[in-house]
Amino acid sequence: MEKKVFYVTTPIYYVNDVPHIGHAYTTVAADVIARFKRLKGEKVFFLTGTDEHGQKIERTARASGEEPIELANRVVVRFKELWKKLNISNDDFIRTTEERHIKSVTELFRRVFEKGDIYLGEYEDWYCVFDETFWTETQLGGSRLCPDCGRPVERLKEESYFFRLSKYEKPLLEFYEDNPDFIQPPFRRNEVISFVRGGLRDLSISRTTFSWGIPVPNNPRHVIYVWFDALTNYITAPGFPDDMERFSEIWPADIHLVGKDILRFHAIYWPAFLMSAGLPLPKKVFAHGWWTVEGEKMSKSKGNVVDPNDIVDEFGADVLRYFLLREVPFGLDGDFSRTALIGRVNGELANGLGNLVSRSLGMIERYMRGRVPEPTLSVGGYEQRVREKAMETARQVEEAMEEVAFHRALNAIWDFIGFMNKYVDESAPWSLEKSGNRERLGLVLWTLVESIRILALLLYPFIPSSSREIWRRIGSPEPLESQLFSYAKEWGLTRPGWQVEKGRALFPRYER
Ligand code: MSP
Repeated sequence: MEKKVFYVTTPIYYVNDVPHIGHAYTTVAADVIARFKRLKGEKVFFLTGTDEHGQKIERTARASGEEPIELANRVVVRFKELWKKLNISNDDFIRTTEERHIKSVTELFRRVFEKGDIYLGEYEDWYCVFDETFWTETQLGGSRLCPDCGRPVERLKEESYFFRLSKYEKPLLEFYEDNPDFIQPPFRRNEVISFVRGGLRDLSISRTTFSWGIPVPNNPRHVIYVWFDALTNYITAPGFPDDMERFSEIWPADIHLVGKDILRFHAIYWPAFLMSAGLPLPKKVFAHGWWTVEGEKMSKSKGNVVDPNDIVDEFGADVLRYFLLREVPFGLDGDFSRTALIGRVNGELANGLGNLVSRSLGMIERYMRGRVPEPTLSVGGYEQRVREKAMETARQVEEAMEEVAFHRALNAIWDFIGFMNKYVDESAPWSLEKSGNRERLGLVLWTLVESIRILALLLYPFIPSSSREIWRRIGSPEPLESQLFSYAKEWGLTRPGWQVEKGRALFPRYER
């Protein structure tokens, strides 16, 4: 069986976390990729889910007098409901407490063990329970606080199974060398390479001090390290180990989208586990940046955590999706603020896109009784430029999307929207109407609908519900879902006679 499916993943989220815009960011980005690929006619498998084992969850559950699984079952809906609300089109949702996953982790562990890459030893180091990460004395730099989250670390000494990560130092470096696009963006790749060059210690991959996890095969006193457990979700969902036929159609992942904080796990540990088990490696790991809020790190204690539910309730899912991907070049850090969000809604969604659609369709309602006119005049010079601009935009969007550069795709689209609003101003259909120049008026209005048709296709991965609404308003008889990206690279598919509808403002304006 050969690989046939484009496979995109988000990390699996800690089930007891309350979702915030940082979580929404990874998932929205993955959704945009999935929708873009489907629009290109590719088969897509888009996976997200929840990470449910580990000491932190065990402690939280015990503190509230619950079993860990009860806690997980109770809170997993926070993620499921948010993804529905944000229009996330995932094909599967994996929970690490599911039977299929337990089987998969057990099998991966067994394979790596059989390869001789797991041995029993003793571990002693500093440990951050919150991040489930061990830290060396050097990494702590004399402090007793976790370098990632700032919480106190604990001294931990226990019998532990180790994975021979040190053995994979050279194979990993060779792999990065042979696959220069594996880690994106390039500056992150350099960070990972220098980390690996600095030397890899064997990795402790089991615990005995708590029990909420997947037991080590043949030694259930140990549970498997949460990261070994969690990373394996990416092969569980496509069918490992029970349905290897389906598995080989989907795996390897084409892209793992992750935040920069968990790149090390995905770009070092994960490929090493897979190499050891003799499984193919993912094609790309893309690490995005970190969101702050009004210049500050989000934290419960500061009370500045932005709940994506609130943003969606107030502005709609498309506004949040658009803002997250437009505001920051994908890969860099960004800052969330209400002022910035409203600025983009008013300036770009309402005045830019919304205005173009509403004035164009409004004029067709007024001057053409709502029917798209026949473009009778042979294409004029200005219309030729519109056509070229549209075609160039579609090419730019495609190229940017293949490079996971959402901001570049959106910049190109809004450049085209600006161009089209200028086209309306300069070709002044109202004067053509007044002077009775029906032929030219028909051509201009048809050109507008044709451009809006292309815009709806280009925008669909980013703002699916607004695009569907725009599509409905231009009156195309085909459903948007039946369209292909290649139709955005074709000029002239808008048919005279389509019944348009101006409707209410697509994006209301907000007070700052
Ligand atoms: N459970 C692990 C992942 C295991 S994957 C095999 C985990 N979960 S998490 O819930 O803490 O984070 C999930 C994702 O959210 C990560 O990609 C992380 O980078 C992202 N973000 C969490 N906070 C964020 C910001 N403030 N800004 C941007 N992304 C952030 O890690």
